[in-house]
Amino acid sequence: MKSPTIKQVEAATLKTFTEEIPSIYFSDKTEAEFETYSHNAEITYRDLLKFPPKMFQGADLIDFGAGTGENTVSLARWGANCTLVEMNANAIAISKKVFSKYAPNSAAKFVQSSIFDFDSNLKFDIVHCRGVWIAVHGALHRSQTPSPQPLGGIHGEWPRAQRVGRN
Ligand SMILES: C[S@@+](CC[C@H](N)C(=O)[O-])C[C@H]1O[C@@H](n2cnc3c(N)ncnc32)[C@H](O)[C@@H]1O
Repeated sequence: MKSPTIKQVEAATLKTFTEEIPSIYFSDKTEAEFETYSHNAEITYRDLLKFPPKMFQGADLIDFGAGTGENTVSLARWGANCTLVEMNANAIAISKKVFSKYAPNSAAKFVQSSIFDFDSNLKFDIVHCRGVWIAVHGALHRSQTPSPQPLGGIHGEWPRAQRVGRN
């Protein structure tokens, strides 16, 4: 059977994520829900991934497949200058509201684009890509583009990520 092209993978992924946005965690809930989510984010990054909030202070960070920005906004609150790249316009609309409510002083940039089409001369200190690998890794593999290896991960299906992750 012929493997799907990157564009076919992209179109199928966008269709799924337009029908149901998977990254709505608190934006449709109360501020108390945000506080709980935000607290859990700090535990995840600081204690599990060993990425302390101070590491994000002043860092230029790009988030590929940022969804509704509900994870990215914590990184902005810890001081990162965030660029969110996301192909789903509906998710971007939510992420703008999330940022204006929970990180009103951040100068975040929102780019509606596929990861595969994104092009920039800018350099970034941190590349963040969470919950997206599974949608793009197969397409990258098939395209024979060298596939970047994650530096940190907490997913069981990423044994290499665990091996090379920070301690
Ligand atoms: C499971 S969600 C994760 C969202 C967010 N990173 C988070 O941590 O909640 C996957 C997101 O990746 C986006 N995505 C998948 N493939 C993409 C591509 N090729 N270009 C841009 N965004 C993509 C989807 O639209 C969706 O918003």
